[in-house]
Amino acid sequence: MAEIKSVGIIGIGSYVPETILTNEKLETMVDTTDEWIVSRTGIKERRIAKEDEACSDLAVRAALKALEDANTKPEEIDLIIVSTITPDFAFPSTAALVQDRIGAINAAAFDLEAACTGFVYGLVTGANFIATGMYKKVLVIGSEALSKIIDWEDRNTCVLFGDGASAAILGEVEKGYGIISYDLKAKGSGGEFLDQPGGGSRNPATVKTIENKMHFLKMKGQDVFKFAVTAIPETINNILEKTDINIKDIELVVPHQANYRIIGSAAKKIDLPVEKFYMNLETYGNTSSASIGLALDEAIKKNKIKKDDYIIMVGFGAGLTYGSCLIKWSKEV
Ligand code: ACO
Repeated sequence: MAEIKSVGIIGIGSYVPETILTNEKLETMVDTTDEWIVSRTGIKERRIAKEDEACSDLAVRAALKALEDANTKPEEIDLIIVSTITPDFAFPSTAALVQDRIGAINAAAFDLEAACTGFVYGLVTGANFIATGMYKKVLVIGSEALSKIIDWEDRNTCVLFGDGASAAILGEVEKGYGIISYDLKAKGSGGEFLDQPGGGSRNPATVKTIENKMHFLKMKGQDVFKFAVTAIPETINNILEKTDINIKDIELVVPHQANYRIIGSAAKKIDLPVEKFYMNLETYGNTSSASIGLALDEAIKKNKIKKDDYIIMVGFGAGLTYGSCLIKWSKEV
């Protein structure tokens, strides 16, 4: 068998729609307050896609930036993975739409659905194709137009989410760098805590499903909260156990951006100062699949990550799914 190759992120990019929806504006839409949203979640504003802007439109913009950052031509890409819970269509896949739009004429393309853990699932899946030597470059995108499946009359959910996309190019890196360890998990028994019950083959779209608002995202917030605060420490411990790297060696954790209280609690449990967790949910809210990549891109641009740093990315979300990966950063920034 061929030697397993080291795989890392060789380029990254992100895109958010222009329109900003502030907490103050939300106060005029539902019975909520800026004070409630900030104290319960940390979110102050989020971005909202235009009426004619779909998941693939955001994905393409992020992908083009990542290609440029990686100094890679679209035709060099062997595989495109789009992680999303808000695809343009059930089919064709959003990945295939992106493949066509960016001119990745040699790429395979498929969508991956692991909600807010999707960026981590996507990186790990893509990396394995390169590790075996079968592919050289893989484009992983997390893209969400969540505003299209939000019930804008439901204050329990509409204050939490936003739209955006992030993309990473994976390629072979120096030995000892790149993805060192990963852990992907699912707990399907909690599927009902976060779902979109209508529109699939279980409850095909009818006038009744629409009237009952079953095409909107539904969430049992406290159940998801309880799950997240144990899932994050569990998966981080799992990836560290597979290595000789200690939590104290970690320079930065880039978590899924859902709620600063979840991160605060997880930080305590793994005995890492909360300052080591990069957070930008204040400005983007929860962008599901896009959020970890959006935060990673911003952290890099703010010089929070340098070559040789150990970085953890950790996600949790619908499925339920959770998981993390440990990267030794290989790119000079
Ligand atoms: N404004 C004002 N009041 C509100 C709002 C709002 N926007 N939303 C809910 N409330 C009210 C509730 O009705 C409730 O009132 P009641 O006591 O009279 O019934 C009260 O506030 C408290 O509600 P709780 O649900 O107990 O609030 P909690 O402190 O649990 O915070 C939250 C809710 C923010 C949703 C929290 O549970 C959470 O963050 N959960 C995790 C959610 C998450 O991370 N989801 C994403 C996973 S990612 C993915 O895969 C998409």
